[in-house]
Amino acid sequence: MFRKLLLTWLGLLSLSLAWATLSVADAPQYVGNEGCNCHKTEMKDWADSAHGTAYDQLFKSKRSRKQNRALKNLGLDYKKDYDQDEKCLACHTTGFNQPGGFSLNNVKDDLKGSGCETCHGAGSKYRVLHKEKDETFTVAEAAALGEIYPPTEEMCRKCHDNENSLFSSKSDPKYGFNFKERLEEKKAWHKKYELLFKH
Ligand code: HEC
Ligand code: HEC
Ligand code: HEC
Repeated sequence: MFRKLLLTWLGLLSLSLAWATLSVADAPQYVGNEGCNCHKTEMKDWADSAHGTAYDQLFKSKRSRKQNRALKNLGLDYKKDYDQDEKCLACHTTGFNQPGGFSLNNVKDDLKGSGCETCHGAGSKYRVLHKEKDETFTVAEAAALGEIYPPTEEMCRKCHDNENSLFSSKSDPKYGFNFKERLEEKKAWHKKYELLFKH
């Protein structure tokens, strides 16, 4: 009896392990902003926004004086480029060290900056659905494939006021993060536009 139970249990365990492996292999990958180009208005706003230009801040030559001062206040070297520093890339790029995302071996323009997918979720699967059922896919179908809509506070907090980062309220209250208020700062990402189709 005990043996049978143990075997069933082992069977279930290996099944769930197989399932876990499958779902990791099955998780959506990052594809970069280029895949989101049809949303021209959102794209244009984003490109000029704080998130769209977040990669620039890693370069001495591209930082403003104010930004240099901010680095100095945090004890960082403002005369340095930080584009090779993994400690910085996590939040200033898209999908850092995730499948398909930015890494030191995968430096692609459309993964630079905090891209669409950092708020809306990795897009490989959603993009297929979007192509197939352009006018008719539902928000629930998209969500089942990893699309995050609307973006949640949890998404923002991976980067904002993250306790593992220097750029948090622990270092300076100005880096505090009030989700509702920050969501109103649409110049930091994109304005709200009417979609052509209701999903
Ligand atoms: C955990 C995420 C995270 C990491 C890691 C991170 N940053 Fe940032 N960084 C942010 C966020 C979020 C902001 C914007 C904060 C705000 O204005 O509320 C920011 C802002 C900045 C700014 C502008 C600061 C200002 O006050 O104007 C610079 C410059 C910058 N980061 C450079 C860096 C460098 C260099 C590193 C590595 C040493 C780094 N960041 C690591 C998330 C991060
Ligand atoms: C900083 C987070 C953030 C980033 C980055 C971001 N979005 Fe959004 N997006 C949002 C939020 C939040 C909403 C919900 C807006 C609302 O309901 O007020 C939204 C809504 C949308 C919508 C629905 C229509 C609309 O305009 O509200 C589309 C389409 C969209 N985003 C596309 C994009 C694309 C394409 C990019 C990249 C070029 C992008 N987003 C980057 C946060 C973000
Ligand atoms: C992948 C990391 C990441 C995510 C996710 C993210 N942000 Fe950011 N955000 C940044 C970085 C980096 C900056 C700093 C860029 C700069 O100062 O130019 C920033 C800047 C901002 C700013 C402008 C701050 C300022 O002082 O000018 C606002 C507002 C903001 N983010 C809101 C949001 C909201 C709302 C969400 C979630 C819906 C979000 N962010 C998600 C990385 C992120």
